[in-house]
Amino acid sequence: MVPKIVIFVVFYVFLSLQLCPSIAQTNWIRVGYYKYSSKYGFPISKINSAFFTHIVCAYTVVNSTSYQLSLSPADEESLSIFAETMKKNNPSVAILLCVGGNRVSYSTFSSMVSNSSYRESFINSSIKVARLYGFQGIDFYWSYPETNSDAFNMGILFQEWRVAIGSEARNSNNSQLILTAQIPYSPCVSSTSYPIETMQQHLDWVHVVSEGLTSPLWTNLTSAHAPLYDPSNLRNTDAGIREWVDRGLSANKLVLNLPFYGYAWKLENPVNNGVGARATGPAISTDGYLTYKQIKNYIKQYGPDVRVRYSSTYVVNYWTEGTTWIGFDDVEAITAKVSYAKEKKLLGYFVWEVSFDDNWVLSRTAGKL
Ligand SMILES: *[C@@H]1O[C@H](CO)[C@@H](O)[C@H](O)[C@H]1NC(C)=O
Ligand SMILES: *[C@@H]1O[C@H](CO)[C@@H](O)[C@H](O)[C@H]1NC(C)=O
Ligand SMILES: *[C@@H]1O[C@H](CO)[C@@H](O)[C@H](O)[C@H]1NC(C)=O
Ligand SMILES: *[C@@H]1O[C@H](CO)[C@@H](O)[C@H](O)[C@H]1NC(C)=O
Ligand SMILES: *[C@@H]1O[C@H](CO)[C@@H](O)[C@H](O)[C@H]1NC(C)=O
Repeated sequence: MVPKIVIFVVFYVFLSLQLCPSIAQTNWIRVGYYKYSSKYGFPISKINSAFFTHIVCAYTVVNSTSYQLSLSPADEESLSIFAETMKKNNPSVAILLCVGGNRVSYSTFSSMVSNSSYRESFINSSIKVARLYGFQGIDFYWSYPETNSDAFNMGILFQEWRVAIGSEARNSNNSQLILTAQIPYSPCVSSTSYPIETMQQHLDWVHVVSEGLTSPLWTNLTSAHAPLYDPSNLRNTDAGIREWVDRGLSANKLVLNLPFYGYAWKLENPVNNGVGARATGPAISTDGYLTYKQIKNYIKQYGPDVRVRYSSTYVVNYWTEGTTWIGFDDVEAITAKVSYAKEKKLLGYFVWEVSFDDNWVLSRTAGKL
């Protein structure tokens, strides 16, 4: 007969193995962006938030004269449905509101950060709106500050934002709102000096945007739009991450980009069909942009014989048939990127965009690593 103690130990080990991931990984985040104004019309209720620790709702417009968040009645309705649905379906997922993106012009943010009273209006309004709908944090996306004074002023904004968030939390007895930002894949992307010390000190973390580095509209060479590596140049995720760390952002503030979309090129010659093959422009859609779901549906019609290939040189999957070439992140690329994030002790990953997934295959893959 097996002694009780053995059963107990075995049971205990089993239990801790089960529990370990969530306990050991409180410093590992899985962020999903959801674009509520999406033309893809994916209903909020269909988001499977179980795969994520945070869902970021993108984007909110900022009024170009008052510098307050400017919500249309449709925005207001979407935000409240989003927040209610998230809380009902998965109360343990934290929700963040993303302010900016391409719905706010460069000049609006440039002007807002330059003047203390504009910054105050913006900060107050962002906190007010976030609390009104029950968000636990705010994500700032300015793509991108163009001058050194923009970047310097953005640093002042972060500093003041943090102070305001701290005092709002004390006054309301709520826990502090999370404050994050999206930043380009590398500080070398322009000559702008990012306020790295301020970012390090006042932001909870940053989403490093390393997708969309190429597209069939910009280059007639097939390529990975979000390469993890590139042996021929520094235009890749790993080089950018290293540069941010070298300049003073700690690895555990950085969150890695996982794109759930890809690009299709039309090949010049079907025989020459690797990464870096000559092309003559986009295929399938007008700009070649395809969500992961669209790609899987498209390639399904050719059956399993036309297999998805993988390049570990760039960390990208690609599929080719005739003159059609599609580069995207499938299970292999996603797996390699998440492993990279763990190995480099980054804080986690973020997905653009949750609704592009195909039956949650990529979200599940990333989530279980
Ligand atoms: C922006 O704010 C100003 C001043 O509050 C207001 O007059 C204007 O209508 C707003 N613009 C938009 C597009 O909401
Ligand atoms: C900021 O804007 C306000 C209102 O337009 C103006 O009165 C003030 O002089 C500006 N401050 C600076 C430093 O430009
Ligand atoms: C911003 O909020 C602070 C704290 O609640 C308040 O003292 C200040 O008057 C507000 N400023 C504006 C421009 O709304
Ligand atoms: C905040 O919480 C503290 C301690 O729980 C309590 O004494 C205080 O009255 C609360 N303040 C507000 C504004 O709710
Ligand atoms: C790609 O090649 C096509 C056909 O030669 C040409 O029309 C197009 O302008 C090229 N695109 C780029 C980005 O060079």
